[in-house]
Amino acid sequence: MESVTKRFGVLTAGGDCPGLNAAMRGLAKTAMGKYNMEIVGFYEGYRGLVNNNAKLMTETDFSGILHKGGSILGSSRERPFKDPEKVKKMVETYKKWELDCLVVLGGNGTQKRGYWLSKEGCNVIGLPKTIDNDIYGNDISFGFHSALEFCTDALDRLHTTASSHKRVLIAEIMGNSAGWLALYAGLAGGADVIIIPEIPYDIKKIKKHVEKRMSSKNPFCVIAVAEGAVSIDEANLTKKELKKKRKKSGLSAGYRVSKELNAISDFESRVSVLGYLQRGGTPTGYDRVISTQFGVKGAELLAKGKYNKMVAAKGLNVVSIPLEEVAEKVQIVPVDNIAIKSAKATGISFGD
Ligand code: F6P
Repeated sequence: MESVTKRFGVLTAGGDCPGLNAAMRGLAKTAMGKYNMEIVGFYEGYRGLVNNNAKLMTETDFSGILHKGGSILGSSRERPFKDPEKVKKMVETYKKWELDCLVVLGGNGTQKRGYWLSKEGCNVIGLPKTIDNDIYGNDISFGFHSALEFCTDALDRLHTTASSHKRVLIAEIMGNSAGWLALYAGLAGGADVIIIPEIPYDIKKIKKHVEKRMSSKNPFCVIAVAEGAVSIDEANLTKKELKKKRKKSGLSAGYRVSKELNAISDFESRVSVLGYLQRGGTPTGYDRVISTQFGVKGAELLAKGKYNKMVAAKGLNVVSIPLEEVAEKVQIVPVDNIAIKSAKATGISFGD
C-alpha cells in the first residue's frame, strides 16, 4: 500500500515518562521500514515547533531506545497558544518542513494543543502518554504501568519501616486531577488508607481508621495520598479560593494530611514524597508493549491519511478517536470504579 503521508513531524510534550522512546521506535520502525516515510524530530515538545529546533531523523536515531526512559527528543511544558505569535511560528515551521502531519506524544495538555493546532490547518495524530492515566477516551496510557510498579515497590519499602518502628507513614503519589496512580499503587502496595482527588476526605474518619490499625496486633499504617487530594471542606471552595489556600499553606498533599492527622492524634505520621522518581527509569515490559502498539497504530493512521485522531486503548484493542472528542477533558476515577470497590471490600479507607 502506498502511504498517504510522505513526511511527518514528531514531538514529545509535557511531563516525561517511561515508554516515550518505545512508542517513537514503534512509530518510526513502521513508518520508515514499512511505508518509507520521512520523520522530522522536534526537540523539547511544542517549543521545538515554535523555534524550528528540529532535525530529519534517521533509522539509527530510533535504534537501541526501546528500554530507555525519558525522551530522545526532550520535552517541555511550553504553552504556545498563550501567544498568537508562537502559534503563527508553529504553523510556519510545519509548512517549512512540508509536513503532511505532526505526531504528538503527550498527556491531556499535549492532546488539547494538538487539537488546537489541527484547527490552525495542521494535521495531527496524538499518542497518549502519562503516568496519571487520565486521558479521556483511553483505557490505559503508556507510562502508567511503569510508575505503578515504582510506587508499589515504594509502598512495600515503607511497609518494612512502618512495621519495624510501628509508625504511620504517608506516601505522596503524583496525580493532580485524577487519582488513578495513588488508587492502583495503594491497592497493589496494601495501603491502609488511600486518598484521591475524586473522594474528598474527612480527616476525623482517617484518624479513626488509623487508630484502629494502630491498636491492632500489627500496629503500623501506610497511607497513599494523591497530589490533588482535597478535604471535604476544600471540595466546597472555588478554584481560586483553593489556590489561595494552597499558596498560604505551602505544603504538598502528603504533608497537609500528616499535619492535620498529627494535630488530632497521639501517633506521629511521617511523609515520603515519591516525586519525579515516579516518572523516571526504564519502562516495564507491559509499557513497552503498549507503547509499541500505539506507535504502530499511529504509523498505520499516517499511512491511511487518517488525521486529527488520537490512538487509544479500548479493552484489549488499540483504536483511534477524534482529537476533538479528547480535547479539554480529563478522565477521573469514577467513584464506582472496580478498584475503589475492591479496596473498600478489603478494608481500605478513603476517608469518606
Ligand atoms: O506527568 C504528569 C505529572 O506527573 C502530574 O501528576 C504532576 O502533577 C506533574 O506531572 C508535575 O510535573 P512538572 O513538575 O513537570 O510540571
